[in-house]
Amino acid sequence: MAKNEALQLLGGLTPAQFLAEYWHKKPLLIKNAMPDFEGLLSPEELAGLACEDEVQSRIVEEINGQWSASHGPFDDEDFARLPDEPDPKHRWTLLVQSVNHFLPEASQLLQQFSFIPHARLDDLMVSYAPDGGGVGPHFDSYDVFLLQGQGKRLWRVSEQTDLTLVEGAPLRILKNFDTAQEWLLEAGDMLYLPPQLAHWGIAVSDGKIDCMTYSIGFRAPKNQELATEFLGYMQDKLNQGQLSIAGMYEDADLCLQEHAAEISGTMVNKVTEILKSIQWSNHDVADFLGTYLSEPKPDVVFDPNKKISLSNFNKHLATHGIMLDLKSQMLFTGNTFYLNGEAALFTGESAMILAKLADVRALNTEDISQHPTADKMLLQQLHEWYLAGFLHFNE
Ligand code: SIN
Ligand code: CO
Repeated sequence: MAKNEALQLLGGLTPAQFLAEYWHKKPLLIKNAMPDFEGLLSPEELAGLACEDEVQSRIVEEINGQWSASHGPFDDEDFARLPDEPDPKHRWTLLVQSVNHFLPEASQLLQQFSFIPHARLDDLMVSYAPDGGGVGPHFDSYDVFLLQGQGKRLWRVSEQTDLTLVEGAPLRILKNFDTAQEWLLEAGDMLYLPPQLAHWGIAVSDGKIDCMTYSIGFRAPKNQELATEFLGYMQDKLNQGQLSIAGMYEDADLCLQEHAAEISGTMVNKVTEILKSIQWSNHDVADFLGTYLSEPKPDVVFDPNKKISLSNFNKHLATHGIMLDLKSQMLFTGNTFYLNGEAALFTGESAMILAKLADVRALNTEDISQHPTADKMLLQQLHEWYLAGFLHFNE
């Protein structure tokens, strides 16, 4: 990714300028970020996705000022009970998560945001709302690019530090919202928002064209979550014998205690010293991040590909090239490559090939023929990932 190239997507800023001035700091409105962008799917297609078992979706309603949220999969009846015409007393929106897992065009759209590391990417969420619909005033723990598809949305942002939420509401709605700035976004416009910034998006229907918004979300994990997951990772290492703490508790110096039931200060000190010997290196942290951040979410399942022999696989690879499954997440650190939570170590030309696969999610036939010295292990690994359904041949 060229850091010094000004991008229309960023309103004429270079990715490096955007990162320095706005990323994780302050909002940026970009008019006409994607000229001619009107969306990737119709409201009907989005509703269709929300009816699929493996798709995470929500309908958020505001009926006479009361908020409610229901979770998919939905069916025709769920949509039939929603008002046909915009009703100020009954507003609603449909939100569908991880559309990039189901629509190749959505995955390609995310590629335009590769100036942010894949390790931070969460998903592309698409929302549909008739006039007045939205999820109410709130803040997220995400960095997000809100790209307007069809229709319009009025975005209000606030500078407030009061993040008190409405009690008892089934979703996080801010109790008070003071608008500091507002913008009306039209198709192709985009608003970047850093985490914790209070915002409120209200669909504005233009005649018959209802609002669809594409949220390119980047997760900022909570420190508590990182610590919990890392300790789980260390525990797994301990259980699998990859980490061992030598010796056993010794108390040849035991002194007579007044209370047999008391855990003495001496015992606590000794165990404190033993526990201090649990150490980790940057390598452990990198391995943890690669594993954890490439791990599929619990609801993600891969369909294994039809079995083919390694030699057949190699022939197809040379003539078609390969691409990651839309649900696959591939990251690397140093020479270790992580695909959907599985680690593989490669060096030299093989590592260069895998780095490209991780960066752009595909390898064409030249990528493969340009590296004739790629080792057999790499082909075996790609074959294994192919069988698991993590990869497919390019169409
Ligand atoms: C949306 O309604 O499309 C965006 C929701 C949000 O504000 O995060
Ligand atoms: Co939000």
